[in-house]
Amino acid sequence: MCGIIGIVDKKNCINDLISSLSRLEYRGYDSAGIATLNKNKFVLNKSKGKLSNLRLKIKQKKIMGNIGIGHTRWATHGKPSNDNAHPFLKKNCAIVHNGIIENYSDIKKSLANHKTNYQSSTDTEVVAELMNYLIEEGASPLESMKEITSRIEGNYALVFLVKSSNNLYFSRKGSPLVVGISKTFKCVASDTLALPNKVDNIIYLEEGDIGEIGLDRANIFDRSFNLKENQIHKHSSMQEHTTKRNFKHFMIKEIHYQSKSIDDTLLNFAKKNDEKIYLPQFKFDTKKIDNLSLVACGTAFHACMVSKYWFEEISKINTMVEIASEYRYRENSINKKTLGILVSQSGETMDTIKCLEKMKKQKIHTASIVNVLGSSLSRNSDYIFPTIAGPEIGVASTKAFTAQLTVLALLSLHIAQKKSVIDNKLKKITNEMFKISKNVNSIMKDKKIYMEIAKDLLDSKSIFYVGRGTMYPLALEGALKLKEITYKHCEGYAAGELKHGPLALIEDSVPVIVLAPFDKYFKKTMSNIQEIKARGGEIILITDSEGSKNSENLADKLICLPKSNFITAPIIYSIPVQLIAYYLATLLGTDVDQPRNLAKSVTVE
Ligand code: M6R
Repeated sequence: MCGIIGIVDKKNCINDLISSLSRLEYRGYDSAGIATLNKNKFVLNKSKGKLSNLRLKIKQKKIMGNIGIGHTRWATHGKPSNDNAHPFLKKNCAIVHNGIIENYSDIKKSLANHKTNYQSSTDTEVVAELMNYLIEEGASPLESMKEITSRIEGNYALVFLVKSSNNLYFSRKGSPLVVGISKTFKCVASDTLALPNKVDNIIYLEEGDIGEIGLDRANIFDRSFNLKENQIHKHSSMQEHTTKRNFKHFMIKEIHYQSKSIDDTLLNFAKKNDEKIYLPQFKFDTKKIDNLSLVACGTAFHACMVSKYWFEEISKINTMVEIASEYRYRENSINKKTLGILVSQSGETMDTIKCLEKMKKQKIHTASIVNVLGSSLSRNSDYIFPTIAGPEIGVASTKAFTAQLTVLALLSLHIAQKKSVIDNKLKKITNEMFKISKNVNSIMKDKKIYMEIAKDLLDSKSIFYVGRGTMYPLALEGALKLKEITYKHCEGYAAGELKHGPLALIEDSVPVIVLAPFDKYFKKTMSNIQEIKARGGEIILITDSEGSKNSENLADKLICLPKSNFITAPIIYSIPVQLIAYYLATLLGTDVDQPRNLAKSVTVE
């Protein structure tokens, strides 16, 4: 899937253009190119194949320019070649484009009486000729953009470099674009991951927006050409992630950060009030995939387990979830209709990498959900869906987990849409997802209750987490978090499974943390609570206001969370689970960020 970067800087922007393009490599591409404007002369360089070819080409010349555009192309109209690679250069402008211009032949016909010079077989070059013509006719770049967007049909993110102008011009419809801003620098990109590190703030463009950026400006107009007041989002630098700031531990900083990482991950692939998910496109027909095989370790495995409920209920697709160290050595029955999905924060977990190798030998399509771009998993799988959580330092995974859940939820919606099994509910669901960060913030405001619960758990020898539906894998995750950083014995169970054995361990004052939003499982979970109470267990119930009304005073302690739904619940309920483990660990004085015997990245078998 194509990638775009455009930069306006006080300094030479070539290095930033190239490093942004390298961060876009994960989307898949077959050619790359850059165009800059230096002393009002265009300089164009493009190469078929890997970015290293382009790098080599420009290394041999001394290219300059404070303003430029770059592109990685994934062929749609016209084969991969130098001629078909972007940018396209005309007398007055250069263009890069993501998407498809459906009426390009009509536009081509409409320009038949004017001087044109087509070099490629792409739909994009027609738009370059149209812009060139409009400027020649005396229109300003912004007027030309307005005219172009009224004439073209299809999906696009377009960025133009214009002769005699110090600004970049752009528009989007059906393909994402973000603007990056710092005091000395502006840029526009198809993806937040492509933004250079020096970006401080981001504006996410909305459908139909037209804009211009220059050193002194960042103007965005809506589709009726009214100047907009944009919502500015903070962009976190690498340094922001690797320093503790005022927090005692990285883990609590990363728990706090989740309102941002969930939003960043959402915004990278979806927009509010939009009917589409913008994940990198599969080159195969999604309808031909009839089962998924998800593989991961530890916390990432729990994320996969949650997603099985989504994939089977929302996307109506058979889903197998397996621990990587088991999958590796087992005979399995995947077939050509299987999509293998590997989930990993680090992208370097040996067991998961070996599963990718096995899947590749079995010749199935593979996709990875990783937090570290450039990691082994991301380099070797066919498709990459990045989590936008930033580097995670604490060994206990927190923000990566909720970002993995976010991507998996979006992927299940995307597949459901491709298979036409979701009707018109997508917009409603994604809008609900955009409210998660607000809910996370409200939970974080009231941390006292988690400190109190941690105090209660201090002397317990054994603790249980239980839940049903998506709350079952979350119970497993709660138990893992607790074991990992408090070194206390804790078990996670499906609430309905207690009676098949573990109930024997419930006696006076054994704490059982019950995860139970008021959903279709709630009543059943209440019956399990009765069974626990009858054996003297102490119930810590985590639910919502409806659940608390219907809990028949069975809870010894109750935490009331904001209302949630099938998709948002596991993400929202992750926060209390993480906070309980964190505060208990701090009371016990364990090494929260680097618990004993564990490593952040497990690169051995
Ligand atoms: O980097 P990965 O996501 O592949 O790591 C997998 C597990 O090692 C990891 O999730 C581990 O379970 C965490 N420390 C749990 O908090």
